[in-house]
Amino acid sequence: MKLSLQNVVKRFGTHTVIDRASLELDGVHCLALIGPSGGGKSTLLRIIAGLEYPNEGRVELNGRAIEYDDEALLRHRRSIGTVFQAFNLFPHLTAFQNIVLPLEKVHGRTKAEARELAEGTLRRFQLLDHAYKKPAELSGGQRQRVAIARAIAIKPQVVLLDEPTSALDPEMTAEVLELIEELKGEGRDLILVTHEMGFARRLADQVALLANGTIAEIGPPEQIFGAPKSEVTKGFLSRVLKY
Ligand SMILES: Nc1ncnc2c1ncn2[C@@H]1O[C@H](COP(=O)(O)OP(=O)(O)OP(=O)(O)O)[C@@H](O)[C@H]1O
Ligand SMILES: [Mg+2]
Repeated sequence: MKLSLQNVVKRFGTHTVIDRASLELDGVHCLALIGPSGGGKSTLLRIIAGLEYPNEGRVELNGRAIEYDDEALLRHRRSIGTVFQAFNLFPHLTAFQNIVLPLEKVHGRTKAEARELAEGTLRRFQLLDHAYKKPAELSGGQRQRVAIARAIAIKPQVVLLDEPTSALDPEMTAEVLELIEELKGEGRDLILVTHEMGFARRLADQVALLANGTIAEIGPPEQIFGAPKSEVTKGFLSRVLKY
């Protein structure tokens, strides 16, 4: 994937949450965004997803600038898969319907196509046995796997994940991390916000540390975790790796 951020600024009221963030990446398959709470990771991911607009600056994904008019945004959102922190499944629908419905309503697939895609994806993730359960009847790990299945049912080239394991216990975390690793293995490009430093280290080819709305440091995991250059990175890692 190719990703370019050029002086991206996002303000909420008078609060500048993203403060001239810039980066240029090419040929990257997994970008991990790490950094302290409130640093702007989710906001930046939502901007890349086209769910939030920047006040200033420019974002390009795979050579195409994100344009902030309704039609272009909708096209952009449809072209990528997104999985956010809190499971955003429809509570009144079964796992199967949760996948089928957006395929029909958002992506314009016929009912038959949508059902076939949903079934194939659920089978792949060993979720067929749970297809007719509603979210409340699934474990946290299963729920998050359904959310990921839904995001990738359209086979997007780029998948954005915001702390996909933050609500899970260690065993379920492992289950979901395995699935994410598989996505990378099958050639999808990932942008991943994560608190799992070990996972970021193993999976990412570039790691960006975001603090106070700016990219304090970006580089391969060996640099960020092995020989960080920025004091901000050093401070952050010494805090999170302490326990
Ligand atoms: N819709 C909003 N309105 C006002 N302020 C917001 C909004 N969304 C985020 N913020 C603020 O922007 C800052 C960055 O938030 P963001 O969610 O991007 O951080 P984060 O790095 O994802 O943190 P965490 O690791 O806790 O998820 C925070 O100070 C937050 O309070
Ligand atoms: Mg966040």
